[in-house]
Amino acid sequence: MKVHISELKDHVGQSVTVSGWLYQKRSSGKIKFAVLRDGTGYLQGVLAKGEAADSALDDFERLTQESSFSMTGPVREDKRAPGGFEMTVKELTVIQVAGEYPIGPKEHGPGFLMDNRHLWLRSSRQHAIMRVRNEIVMAIRQFFYERDFVLIDTPILTGAIGETASTLFETQYFDLGKAYLAQTGQLYVEAGAMAHGRVYCFGPTFRAEKSKTRKHLNEFWMLEPEVAFNDSNANMQLQEDLVCYIMDWVLRKCRTELAALSRDVSKLEAVKAPFPRISYDEAITRLQKAGMTISWGNDFGAPDEEKLMEEYERPLFVYNWPTECKAFYMKRNPERPDVVLCDDLLGPEGYGELIGGSQREDDHDLLLERIREQKLPEESYAWYLDLRKYGSVPHAGFGLGLERVVGWICGLEHVRETIPFARTIGRLYP
Ligand code: 4AD
Ligand code: MG
Repeated sequence: MKVHISELKDHVGQSVTVSGWLYQKRSSGKIKFAVLRDGTGYLQGVLAKGEAADSALDDFERLTQESSFSMTGPVREDKRAPGGFEMTVKELTVIQVAGEYPIGPKEHGPGFLMDNRHLWLRSSRQHAIMRVRNEIVMAIRQFFYERDFVLIDTPILTGAIGETASTLFETQYFDLGKAYLAQTGQLYVEAGAMAHGRVYCFGPTFRAEKSKTRKHLNEFWMLEPEVAFNDSNANMQLQEDLVCYIMDWVLRKCRTELAALSRDVSKLEAVKAPFPRISYDEAITRLQKAGMTISWGNDFGAPDEEKLMEEYERPLFVYNWPTECKAFYMKRNPERPDVVLCDDLLGPEGYGELIGGSQREDDHDLLLERIREQKLPEESYAWYLDLRKYGSVPHAGFGLGLERVVGWICGLEHVRETIPFARTIGRLYP
């Protein structure tokens, strides 16, 4: 019977076949050990003369690191073995003998590893990160499903600028002029929210930013919920509920992976509701008192974010930012039009902005004014303005950067390891 290593606990004492790749092998006298990994775990196979077929012993000699093969034999529990099981190998079938594998136990630089990303994904740390990413995505989808949100898939090719004109990837779209790769699905989920009430999109987004920081990718995945009849406060509450839900899920499901990553789990366990909330004004006052050279109206740099977060072990909401810093669709505070009703959620431990959210401008004329101020092509927004003509309601939503959250939870130095194949300014390969 063919089984995966993760299923071995149900097959103790039975003879099974496991297929995978050679992780390690060694010989000790007449006994040979082959550690196979199949993506779900590691299994040590023990080959002894008399027990194993002669062909299996010969084939063992041909195995190189990452060669693909199957092994068959009875499995038993062995607490000392990697993964907790061991197989007495009877048969071994080589599928392909691998050439000399470029990634060895010696230290490699990040450039080399990223050039070999298609292979690097097999290594145990990268494997753990992708598993955590997978669980975070599952947690997110489950969170919204439980709350009756409807998934609205938004287009990747768009005719309207979603965030800022300065970071668009453009392409010619038949005879219709320029199309842009979506910077956000937000404008479209706003239409979805007016149809379904509570919706979200979750897909790739693109920013032609020339930044080379450890937090920026040019292609990243963003989750964007949008809720009719929510204001900015309710919007922050939803973000807090979601982040706590994700954290609880990961702490239940990913203990092995977090241990493989040497993540200090106590830092994650400290992430509990309620998250502190401070206004942008208050943040600036604090930063200035702490000696940072920042003035009202500036966006935060990474050092500002780190300074602000020094005293927090939970994420921090900074709300109501200057209108001039933020996108055209955010609703201005009616009592103070120099700030918009929005929030950034900053992660602890220097992980920076995890989420950006806002209440949207729901007044047709004020929105049109903002579109004109920012010199955006009015014709492309006719449909978006329609949403303010036909039953406009207060509504709010946010964008969570998946890779930022994966990087934070896994405790990674750089966002390039949080996505299978990173797209950064200097990388389109592999
Ligand atoms: O703050 P941003 O730009 O917000 C929006 O795009 C809104 N339309 C979202 C909404 O309200 N529906 O991006 C949201 C989040 C950021 O907080 C950050 O986590 C992530 O997306 N993000 C990036 N992640 C990786 N690389 C980049 N270049 C990113 N830019 C933003
Ligand atoms: Mg933002």
